[in-house]
Amino acid sequence: MSESQVEPYRVSPASVLPRTAEPGNLPAGEGGRVTLADGSVPAVSIRELKKSYVLKSETVHALRGVSFDIPEGDYVAIMGPSGSGKSTLLNMLGCLDKPTSGNFFLGHDDVASMDDDSLAEIRSRRIGFVFQSYNLIQQYTVVENIQVPLYYQGKLGPAEKQRAIDLATSVGLAERLDHRPMQLSGGQQQRVAIARSLMNDPYFILADEATGNLDSVTTEEILNLFDSLNNEGRTIIMVTHEDEVAARAKRIVRLADGLLSSDRTNSEESRAEARIRQHEHVLALAQRKL
Ligand SMILES: Nc1ncnc2c1ncn2[C@@H]1O[C@H](COP(=O)(O)OP(=O)(O)OP(=O)(O)O)[C@@H](O)[C@H]1O
Ligand SMILES: [Mg+2]
Repeated sequence: MSESQVEPYRVSPASVLPRTAEPGNLPAGEGGRVTLADGSVPAVSIRELKKSYVLKSETVHALRGVSFDIPEGDYVAIMGPSGSGKSTLLNMLGCLDKPTSGNFFLGHDDVASMDDDSLAEIRSRRIGFVFQSYNLIQQYTVVENIQVPLYYQGKLGPAEKQRAIDLATSVGLAERLDHRPMQLSGGQQQRVAIARSLMNDPYFILADEATGNLDSVTTEEILNLFDSLNNEGRTIIMVTHEDEVAARAKRIVRLADGLLSSDRTNSEESRAEARIRQHEHVLALAQRKL
C-alpha cells in the first residue's frame, strides 16, 4: 500500500483553549473554534487529549496528548498495536467516557467540558455507532432496529418509520424489512446497524472493527457501502486492525503508546488499488468454490 504524507492541517491559535467553555457557548466565529486551512470548521477536533486510569497500584496513561482534526466528509482509519489507546480514543470520540484533560470539539461545542447528561444527549442524538458484533435487538424487526436511536427521544411517528424503511432500502435491505436479526446473514445484520447509525443524521459514523466478524465477500460489501456513504458526504471514523480495511479509508491515523505516531492520507490511486485487490481476492475465492 502506498501512502503519501499529508499536509498537516493548519489550526488557528484560538484552538488551544483552556477547558472553560460551556456547551453551546462558543458562538460562530469567536474564540475556541478550530478552523481548517480552507476556513471550514472540522467535524471533530481534539487537542492534547489525555486519558489516565487511576488504579490502586499505578496510573495507566492510555492517551498522553493526542491532537488532530477530522474535516467533514473525511474517512479515517485508526490503527495501532494492542494497548496503544485506540479503544480509549474511540470511547472519547463516542462520548462514552470523558478525557482527563484536553479539548474535544464537535463542531463548535467543546465536549470535554460537558456534564454527563449533555454527553449522553450528544451520544444518543449525534453519533452513529457501528460495532463489530452489530448489537441489534433480537426481538425487533429490521425496521424497528433502525428506529432504536429514536426510542430514547420518544419520536416514533409514521414519518420516522418511513425514514427507517428508506434507510433499510438504501443499504440494500428492502426485501428484509420485517426480518429479525436471527433471520439475517452477518453482512445483512451489519447493514441494519449501519442504517441504524444514520437514523439520527449523525455528526459522524464511529465504527469499531465493523468488518471484524465478516468474511472477505461481506467485508467487501460493507466497505463498498462505507465508500458510498462517504461519497455522499458522511464522515466516517473507524478502528481496524486490518491493513486491507484501512487501505480503503482516505486517511490512516496511527497510535503508539498513547501518542499519535503517524497521520497519512491514502492517495486516491492507492484506495482504488485496494478496491481492485480486494475484489480480485473475492473473485478468486468464488472461483475456488465453483
Ligand atoms: N478501564 C481501564 N482501566 C485501566 N486501564 C485501562 C482501562 N482501559 C484501558 N486501559 C489501559 O489503557 C491502555 C490502552 O488501552 P486501549 O484499550 O485503549 O488499547 P487498544 O489500542 O484499544 O488495544 P487493543 O488493540 O488490544 O484493543 C492499555 O494499557 C490498557 O491496559
Ligand atoms: Mg481496543
